[in-house]
Formats: sequence, structure tokens, C-alpha cells
Amino acid sequence: MAETSIKEVARRAGVSLGTVSNVLNGKQTVAPQIRQRVLDVIEELGYVRNDSARHLRAGRSHTVAIVVLDVSNPFFTDMVKGAEEVVEAAGGMLVVCNSGEDAARERRHLGALEQQRVRGLLITPVDSGGHKRLERLIKRGIPVVLVDRGSGQPDRCSVAVDDILGGRLAAQHLVECGHRSIAFVGGPFSIPQVADRYSGAAAALAEHGGIELRKVQTRTLSVTAGSEAGQQLCALPKAKRPTAVFCANDLLALGVLQALTTAGLRVPQDVAIVGYDDIDFAAAAAVPLTSVRQPREQLGRTAAQLLLEEADDPQRHGHRHVVFQPQLVVRRSTASTKS
Ligand code: RIB
Repeated sequence: MAETSIKEVARRAGVSLGTVSNVLNGKQTVAPQIRQRVLDVIEELGYVRNDSARHLRAGRSHTVAIVVLDVSNPFFTDMVKGAEEVVEAAGGMLVVCNSGEDAARERRHLGALEQQRVRGLLITPVDSGGHKRLERLIKRGIPVVLVDRGSGQPDRCSVAVDDILGGRLAAQHLVECGHRSIAFVGGPFSIPQVADRYSGAAAALAEHGGIELRKVQTRTLSVTAGSEAGQQLCALPKAKRPTAVFCANDLLALGVLQALTTAGLRVPQDVAIVGYDDIDFAAAAAVPLTSVRQPREQLGRTAAQLLLEEADDPQRHGHRHVVFQPQLVVRRSTASTKS
């Protein structure tokens, strides 16, 4: 069934197109009985205004898109909450797309968003690839802000956390707890945040000389992947098993915790665990997790503010690369081996 047009509504109600438009925009200039007649016809015909066409004619949509790696990860839902707060306060709408850590899926989302002519795009890219599509959006005058990803690129803003420092904080804490055999659980390393957390931890341990950092690579940053990595560690003979695990995010850490406790190992007595993000489930875990906290909602708010500033006045906007500092939150999943 063809969509009802605004012309059909005007004809049926016996008014001009302008009157129908005034009713749709809530203008008080329309007499009450005419307004009601138009509303009755809209109801009867099932007319729905085509906002994207209207915004295209106006040259600007009020929709901001955010593409995240994993909508099932509370890190991203907290980040989205922050961005949504800012976008809605400015009268816009935030649309969330999930790349599922899949570059091809991300490219499909970017292609669709380009056609929608969104007001701007916030994205945590799947990898550090140049993203031909991101550059195309920018060339079309659609502002792009990288979030949860650092960047030095001159044509876009970015908001991130110093993940190298975050890795250092986690490793330093485990050394202070007395650990000398530590595993890093995380992956894929094509995600720069993962690589940075690992390299920060490796650098901190190198300063203490002779401390092993065993890499246990995972395919994703999920609880399942963490549980599989935890089972690998449990299968090691005790003499070869690390006494501590640093996980690239809290979902992995929850998976490792699940595997270790299922195998009858005690946390932290047998194996200590550190996560990353400090999502709400970290503190609520069966053994509350030590984690490297990221300011999740602030990341989203700041990215959205930068985006809207650029969208509203691109001439005066100057691209900025904001980097927040992580913070170690110590809980029961780590404790000194001396205790
Ligand atoms: O963005 C990659 C990772 O960084 C996500 O898994 C999230 O948990 C954050 O830590």
C-alpha cells in the first residue's frame, strides 16, 4: 500500500499544504476546528511524516548515530547513556548500531548511515584501519568523533582513555601483591585498546625484570571467551599456572572467574584477577573484581559534545583529542600473596 502523502491529507481535509504542515509542527495559528479536522484525516489515512526526507530537504538531520563494538557489553551501554543525554538535550535523537567487533558489519552500517545523511557519527572502530567509509562521511561534511579510541588524525575529534597507563596500573598492582607469573587474557589485538593495555602491562613488568607475562589471546572480548581462556589456565599443571590474570575487559574477567571457580580454584588465593572498565557487574561479582575504571558515561558525553559543536559550527570548530586517565579500583579478586 503506497504511503499517504501530505498532499492527500490536505485534499481530504480541504485545506492547504501549509495548514497541514502548521498542524504537524504544532503551530498555534490554526483554528481549533480546522486542526481537529486535519488530525482526524491524518488518523483516518494513517499518514506518517517522512522525517528523513524532510531533513534531507533541510540539508540536516537531527539524528546522531553511534556505532559500538558490542551492545551486550555494559561498557558501551554506559557510554551510550552519556552520549544520549547530550544529544537529546540538544533536541536530537541517538541511533545505536552494533558492529559486533566485525569490520564487514561495521562497513555495512557506515554505508547505510551515509545514505541517511545523519547529523554526525560517534564510533568505536573495530580496528585501526583507515576506514575509507569514515573518510567519505567526513568529506560529505558529516562530523565523525572516535570514542573509546585515541587518534591523532587532523580531520576528526577523538575521546579515549590512556589504555597504556591502564595496563601499567593493573600490572603494577599485581607486582605489589607479590605476583611473578602473570597472564594477559584478551583479543583480538587488532583492537588498539587491547594492544595498548597489553603493552602497558608488559612495559611495567619489564621494569621489574624477569616477570613473565603470558599472552592468552581470545577471539572476542566476551564472557564466553574469558571462560574458555580460564579453562586453558586451569588445565595447566600448578607449577606452570600463572598466579594472576590481567583481562582486557571486565567481561573477560567475569568469564575467567567463572572458569576458575567452577574448577575449584580459589580467587585470589590460587589465582588473582584484574579486569578493565569497572562496569557495575565487576563490584557485584561472586568475588568482587579489581578493575581499571574507565569514565564510561563521561566518554559518551564528551564525544557527543564535540560532535554537536562541530555540527553546529564547523567553521569555528577545532578538532580535539581528549584523553581521560584510568583509575585502579582494588577489590577482593586481588590480594597480596603474602596474606
Ligand atoms: O572497546 C574495546 C574494549 O574497550 C571494550 O571491550 C570495552 O570493554 C573497553 O574496555
